[in-house]
Amino acid sequence: MNISFDFTNMMSDAIGEDDGIKRSEIESLQDKVKLIDKDLKSKRKDGILPFFDLPYQDIGSISKAEEEIKTGFENFVLIGIGGSSLGPKALHKALNPPYYNELPKEKRKGCPKIYFLENVDPDSLNAVLDAIDLKKTVFNVITKSGSTSETMANFLLVRERLVEAVGKENAKRHIIATTDSKKGSLRRLVETEGYKSFEVPEKVGGRFSVFTPVGLFPAAVIGVDIKQLLDGAAYMDNLCKSENVRENPAYMSAVLQYIAATVRGKNITVLMSYADALDEIGGWFCQLWAESLGKKNTIDGKVINTGQTPVKAIGTNDQHSQIQLYMEGPNDKTITFIRVEKFRNEILMPRVSIDNDSLSYLGGRTMNELIHAEQTATELALTKNGRPNSRITLSEVSPYTIGALLYMFEVQTAFSGGLYSINPFDQPGVEEGKVLTYAVMGRSGYDEKKKEIEEMAKRARFTIP
Ligand code: PA5
Repeated sequence: MNISFDFTNMMSDAIGEDDGIKRSEIESLQDKVKLIDKDLKSKRKDGILPFFDLPYQDIGSISKAEEEIKTGFENFVLIGIGGSSLGPKALHKALNPPYYNELPKEKRKGCPKIYFLENVDPDSLNAVLDAIDLKKTVFNVITKSGSTSETMANFLLVRERLVEAVGKENAKRHIIATTDSKKGSLRRLVETEGYKSFEVPEKVGGRFSVFTPVGLFPAAVIGVDIKQLLDGAAYMDNLCKSENVRENPAYMSAVLQYIAATVRGKNITVLMSYADALDEIGGWFCQLWAESLGKKNTIDGKVINTGQTPVKAIGTNDQHSQIQLYMEGPNDKTITFIRVEKFRNEILMPRVSIDNDSLSYLGGRTMNELIHAEQTATELALTKNGRPNSRITLSEVSPYTIGALLYMFEVQTAFSGGLYSINPFDQPGVEEGKVLTYAVMGRSGYDEKKKEIEEMAKRARFTIP
């Protein structure tokens, strides 16, 4: 077993018919499931959804470039945001030790330290620049569109500093761009300045790009076995081939969330991982679910304003923070646990005899047993309270299981788009914000939008003080 999905506690048999899902409800969707499956498979065949085939790509060019970086530089700075950073960040956090940058180089398998520049927070940029020596640093600027304000602002600043530090000619060696093959300002810069570059496949959107050079190249540079990652994704692809919802974990999970949201009012979905390493997987999932399924219109233009709000949580930390709400607050959520069977370490707790032996139950047991017991207890308590929950179990956190997990979420999300009859691959809401930023900042060609913003600014203000 590498990965398994247990949905017992989503069902009415476990939590009752008010909140649980009846088998007949799943059966009643089987025809729709087949239609969506057929549509996805034909789009895959026609090359319209190439993300499906990424597990089978040739990674030769990535491995070659990765070797040069590892030997030539001490630091690797990723500049990107949203789908252009959350994937590689999740892979780093899941598959490298928590204090990776602080470890001596040999404990980092000889790989560079890694930093992320995502936001346009001047203090964050400065902090990264303070921590690195530009002469020993390579920057991977990632933006599919090649024009995102945040990424380009960070990049232009870094580029200027680099030129100051190493000279214009040498600066090129320190920059690798990952962007569209033809479009965008970054591609123009690649052509004029001669940077090394990778391509983001045209038909793969940002949040589905973790298995393209967006995620694979940074992961390889910091020592992740990307072949194993892709093998894990391919394994999941195989598991998700069936049109029968009962045999397909991604389809089953999608169907359960869909019924829970649309019939039982579970408008929030919590991904609660019982492993610190999976924290950023939660962040990556939140973007995937929110941006793909949070939509105003169906594909034929009907206004539905749909989408479950995703929340990430970490067990056990959030048992001491969010769980009270999940247990007794509004019954408007589903909770998906991720449980890891085998941690990288097994730690035995000491036998002690203090405070009337009230702590002796811990002695001689492992910390691993404790985190598993806490996950089981939380799951049982939620179930007793009629709160729908399911569990994904990973045999361990490895490139293989993480590849499988991320691929499963991608298929689940793409498939859910069909259930809601929306397009899960666009993001008009994000684009609107990007355009308004251009207008506020006075980019040419955005005068109409600027006027719109100026009109809005004239409205009465309500402020304190
Ligand atoms: O998933 C998406 O498409 C978005 O979140 C983008 O990844 C994000 O807006 C960044 O865009 P870009 O890669 O073009 O800089």
